[in-house]
Parts: sequence; structure tokens; C-alpha cells
Amino acid sequence: MSRIEPLPMRLRAPAQGFPKGWYRVADAGEVLPDALLPVSWLNDQFIVFRAADGQAQVADAFCPHMGAHLASHDGCLRNGRIVCPFHKWEFDAAGGALAHIPYSALPPGEVGLKMHATRELDGMVLMWYHPHGGTPEFEPFETPLSRNQDGWVLYGVKEWITTCPMRDMLENLFDGPHIVYLHNSGGAPVLKSIARTPYGMRVDYDQDPSQTDAGVTGFRSDFTGITLNAQIFEGTAFTTQFYNTFTPIDDERFVLHSRLHIKDSGSAEINEAIGKAFTDRFMFEVEQDLKVLDYKRHLVKPRLCAGDGPIHQYRKYAAEFFVD
Ligand code: FES
Ligand SMILES: [Fe+2]
Repeated sequence: MSRIEPLPMRLRAPAQGFPKGWYRVADAGEVLPDALLPVSWLNDQFIVFRAADGQAQVADAFCPHMGAHLASHDGCLRNGRIVCPFHKWEFDAAGGALAHIPYSALPPGEVGLKMHATRELDGMVLMWYHPHGGTPEFEPFETPLSRNQDGWVLYGVKEWITTCPMRDMLENLFDGPHIVYLHNSGGAPVLKSIARTPYGMRVDYDQDPSQTDAGVTGFRSDFTGITLNAQIFEGTAFTTQFYNTFTPIDDERFVLHSRLHIKDSGSAEINEAIGKAFTDRFMFEVEQDLKVLDYKRHLVKPRLCAGDGPIHQYRKYAAEFFVD
């Protein structure tokens, strides 16, 4: 059987850098007190940790003194300070300020650890990224779950590494016909409205009448920029919320990370049935999507026809987050 190797990204999509926005860089539960979690994202490396007040923080992985990776060898977080393994300079974990040089009373002028704006949202650690640096231009969205944690359970977490051109992954959500012709679904949710929000965009759908057997009565999709997405399904007997996050590892790959939360029905058996139905369908669709998306080229001028969905409207929105 022949196998396709994805073409290098530079031959499949115009170089455009990574979009500005909030990126999921870790799960909150992975970030333990007094530990440095090394992560590799966005063609770069970072450390994730908790300052003395318990707040998650993200900083550059490399020491500003001579560039050691702060989580290499015996680099550590101790007494609220990050201690570099190389010459044991110490940085304040809360703000990154240089706190101590063990062999010199003369700090070399302005020097500190580069910190990145960080937020925690429903079990995820998010980092602000802008190709030119700077402070966040907007906050991550609020969702039914983030507004009120009571009565929700995390049913499951799935992750895929994909070679899809990153902006085409979300474009897929506006591509109605593929739901029928790739996923063999009896129909696709019909777009009702697209509205701008302070954090991005909210899309409401009418359910396709042929899909009412699944019991879904309402569906909406909320975006923070083009890096975080929440899909909220209301049903006659359930409410579920997916978080989908998109974080590039490098120019060739990004991680699609999905978390399904369900409103607690009060019965573990019913929760399991709801969770399984949603994740089975979702997994099936994502895996089918990736069989195509992982190899596709981003066409700057796709030849769209009537019925193709608001692809251009999505692209106009997405373009706002690409800065370069
Ligand atoms: S490289 Fe970090 S203390 Fe020297
Ligand atoms: Fe799909």
C-alpha cells in the first residue's frame, strides 16, 4: 500500500508565522508545586510552574545569563525561586526578576527571566503569544463551564498531532458539505448566525432536522482567536462542552487537544452513555478529517461554489490573528 508523506509546510501553505492568541501549553494537573515542567511549543521551549501563591506561570526555558535550559540537569524551583543548573543564578518565580548571583554582587544591568502572560482555564494552562511580544490584547473566553464549575464532570481527554495547515483545521468547522460527503452524515448543522465577541467569535447553529434522533436541540461554537474553541451542545437530556485547543509544536505540526465535559446527570451510567456517544462520534470525525487534512494544501484562492459554507467569512476573521 502506498503511503503519502505530507509535503513540507512551506510548500503547502504561505509562511505566515504563528497567530497571536492564547495557547494551551499544559494541563493544570501536570504543573506541580515546586517543580518545573519543560514544554516545547511554537518552535521554542518554555517552563511551566507555580509561583508561591499557586498561580501557574510560563517563562522562557533559557537562562538569560548564558542560555542554559532551566529544567536541564538539576535546574529547579526552590523557595519561590528558579535556580539555574549552570551557575546557580536565581530568579523570582512570580515575576522573573534576578534575585541572587552566588558569586557576584554586581548584576549585569537589566536582566531577568522572560515571563509570558498565563491564565488557567478549566484544567488548562494558557499562554499568551504574539510574534512581536507584548501584553495580551484580549482575555480567553468564558464558557458555561468556566462561569460555573458546579455539576460538571470531565469525561475524557484526547490528543492528536496533526500536519494539517493550522488555519485549515478550523476552516473545517465552516465546511458543511464535508460533514455529509466525508463523514457520511445524514445532514449538517445549519449555520444560524456568526457574531463577533471581545475574545473572538461565536457561531450559532440550527440543528439539521435529520439529526434530531441524537436529541441535540442546540449547538454553538465559541472561539478565542483561532487557538481555542468551545463547542456547546444542548440536548433534551444533556449538556456537553468540548474544548478544542490548537498549539503548534513547530512549522510542520500542531497538537489538537480536546476535552469533553458533561453536565452531571446524577447517574454515572448516564454520564458514561452521554460521554461515550459524544466522544465516539467526535473521534470518528476527527480521525476521518485528519486522513484528508494532514496532507492538504492551503489554497489561497479555493474555487468555492454555492453551498460551500462561509469559508471566506472565516478566513477574514482568521486573518486578523496572523500578524506577520
Ligand atoms: S546560564 Fe544560567 S546561571 Fe549561567
Ligand atoms: Fe470534519
